Amino acid sequence: MNQEIQNRLKEIQDSAIAAIAAAGDEHSLFQLKSKYLGKKSEISDVLKSIAALSVDEKRSIGGLANTIKTELERVIDERADALLNSTGGVALNTALPGIKPLTGHLHPLTLTMRELKSVFIRMGFCIEEGPEVETDYYNFEALNTPPHHPARDMQDTFYLSPEILLRTHTSPVQVRVMKSQKPPIRAIMPGRVYRNEEVSARSYCLFHQIEGLYVDKGVSFADLKGTLDSFVKGYFGSSVKTKFRPSFFPFTEPSAEVDVQCFLCNAKGCPICKHTGWLEILGCGMVHPNVLRNGGIDPEEFSGFAFGMGVERIALLKYGIDDIRLFYENDLRVVSQF
Ligand code: DAH
Repeated sequence: MNQEIQNRLKEIQDSAIAAIAAAGDEHSLFQLKSKYLGKKSEISDVLKSIAALSVDEKRSIGGLANTIKTELERVIDERADALLNSTGGVALNTALPGIKPLTGHLHPLTLTMRELKSVFIRMGFCIEEGPEVETDYYNFEALNTPPHHPARDMQDTFYLSPEILLRTHTSPVQVRVMKSQKPPIRAIMPGRVYRNEEVSARSYCLFHQIEGLYVDKGVSFADLKGTLDSFVKGYFGSSVKTKFRPSFFPFTEPSAEVDVQCFLCNAKGCPICKHTGWLEILGCGMVHPNVLRNGGIDPEEFSGFAFGMGVERIALLKYGIDDIRLFYENDLRVVSQF
């Protein structure tokens, strides 16, 4: 009996040593350690079966078991060292989850801008651009806003000199496009604009707009409504309704502002839409005859509509952000969420 048990212990030792030598990484070594030295190991099983033996026999088998355990611990440590050296000193634990590499991503404003542009491109608009440093003429005068016109107060302007300024809106690009193209003109004009306003959660000294212009023979207010309604359905969703409210801009007559049904509360009323169920998203109107003339287009022959929207405002609403400054601080905790 005694000899049999001793042989069994030696067999376990031999197979453990062979398995440890074959262990290819720390994880399998760890598993072998618990298999051969843990509470439920084969050695423990063997020791449980010696209860009936004499005290002397128990002592000699117990001593052998302890020697084997010590030996196995030593062999495991040796193998762990060997594995560590073979990985250049870096412990390799294949059970750990992998480290995901950080990848770059688009800024929420870029995403919003791209989505807005793609809706208009699908509707047949092309993209035009104009300068951010603009003349007073294009920013105001050509848009039917002469010096001292009260509408100039609607936009606080950064003047670089009495004649040169940072454009306050993308509308001046309308006149530049009219001067360089013949109707039919169907263009959107995205870009940065600047306002000398106090920075707050709702306004920032720079932001982005998308301007739109359509000039051809016989363009009517019905075309304007149809186009903007299609845009709203294409961007916000096919069931979202629009509402046109009369408004004033010097460069359009008549002028309107467009509201969309609040997509945050399904028009039921929430703090964002101030419980009205509607969100204002853009200004628009029929291009004023004076503006067509300044663009070199005969208002007797052609008519057109124009619109302009703030990209930040749409992005704030879309992503449920409550502070415009977050777009410009580039705090990775914020921008990496998109
Ligand atoms: N330029 C205006 C602004 O910044 C927005 C605007 C309103 C543009 C009506 C338009 C328009 O083209 O027709 O507030």
